[in-house]
Amino acid sequence: MSARVRIAVVGTGYWGVNHVRAFSRLAAAELVAICDPDPAALARAAQLAPAATQIASFDELLADRRVEAVVLATPAVAHAAQACAALAAGKHVFVEKPMALTPADARAVASAAASSGKTLMVGHLMLYHPGYIRLRELVRGGEIGEVYYLYALRVNLGRLRKDENALWSFAPHDLSMILDLVGALPVSVAARGESYLQPGIEDVVFLNLAFPDRKMAQVQLSWLDPRKERRLTVVGSRKMVELDDVHPTEKLRIYDKGYDRPPAFTQYAEYLTVRHGDIHIPRLEAGEPLDLECRHFLECCATGQPPRTGVQAGADVVEVLDLAQKSLTAGGAPMTLQRA
Ligand SMILES: NC(=O)c1ccc[n+]([C@@H]2O[C@H](COP(=O)([O-])OP(=O)(O)OC[C@H]3O[C@@H](n4cnc5c(N)ncnc54)[C@H](O)[C@@H]3O)[C@@H](O)[C@H]2O)c1
Repeated sequence: MSARVRIAVVGTGYWGVNHVRAFSRLAAAELVAICDPDPAALARAAQLAPAATQIASFDELLADRRVEAVVLATPAVAHAAQACAALAAGKHVFVEKPMALTPADARAVASAAASSGKTLMVGHLMLYHPGYIRLRELVRGGEIGEVYYLYALRVNLGRLRKDENALWSFAPHDLSMILDLVGALPVSVAARGESYLQPGIEDVVFLNLAFPDRKMAQVQLSWLDPRKERRLTVVGSRKMVELDDVHPTEKLRIYDKGYDRPPAFTQYAEYLTVRHGDIHIPRLEAGEPLDLECRHFLECCATGQPPRTGVQAGADVVEVLDLAQKSLTAGGAPMTLQRA
């Protein structure tokens, strides 16, 4: 392993150029190549990384012995096969979300990663968000009490995708946070959606998850909404927390609100008393999620430490997306997770 991780970005479209920008700024990386079959996409990325070799073919890139690690920012349909091929070629892999499009493909990536001994990290960006990291500490440290339920909103009037629906495009962000916070897979998943704009591609999806210990989660996803919202609310027995990624300065709000249960009570109606406590807006660690995510990948490549968003996290999200898609296709019927 060289002192700087020699990296290549594959897929330099809308999102891949952000990886090009991020890795070309990091001292721990040397961006040696960029790869895309589309000459216009490659030319745009080359403006950000003029020293990187421009390669049109993925196979040619894999044969480049300088490249130690690849970032796959290609369309989701290519992720699993490209991840497996890159691992087999001895490269560390950062694969954008979703890691695969089926649980079987996710298992193939997991086994390729295990036999290669290389790093496989999934681009679950929100898990590197300083606001999320603080929220996770509050949940794990018990400050909000028992988690009762969670709900997320990821809506806007946005870029329409032709290759995937709003579920596969947006939900990996919310599911990665929800599964990480709950620490378990749901027992049942239901999703309803409609294709108002493009036939056969759901642009609005309502997703519902039930977990084993009565926890519930709901996610609303849409490209057809008047407001841009990126919110996750966690309601606990002691406190409630809201992560609002659209807010410029107050990304996390901790509400000391809930119902208190007095140790002894005299009348039935006085059993529970509502508590309107303070609202705390903590100061968060500085840092852009993408920059923190890219740094973490380089550190994992250099040290061999397991990534915070590794292959299991990627496979869990794919498992839930797959159930949600089956439910969507069945008009919203709940799907139960079958344990192997
Ligand atoms: N983490 C985030 O917040 C975030 C945001 C947007 C997109 N993404 C993810 O990034 C990925 C790419 O999304 P996008 O919006 O940039 O798509 P895009 O269509 O704009 O770009 C994809 C690029 O990949 C190239 N490509 C296609 N096949 C290729 C191949 N075999 N080898 C090399 N390049 C190939 C295309 O020519 C295109 O330039 C998706 O997985 C998406 O989910 C993540």
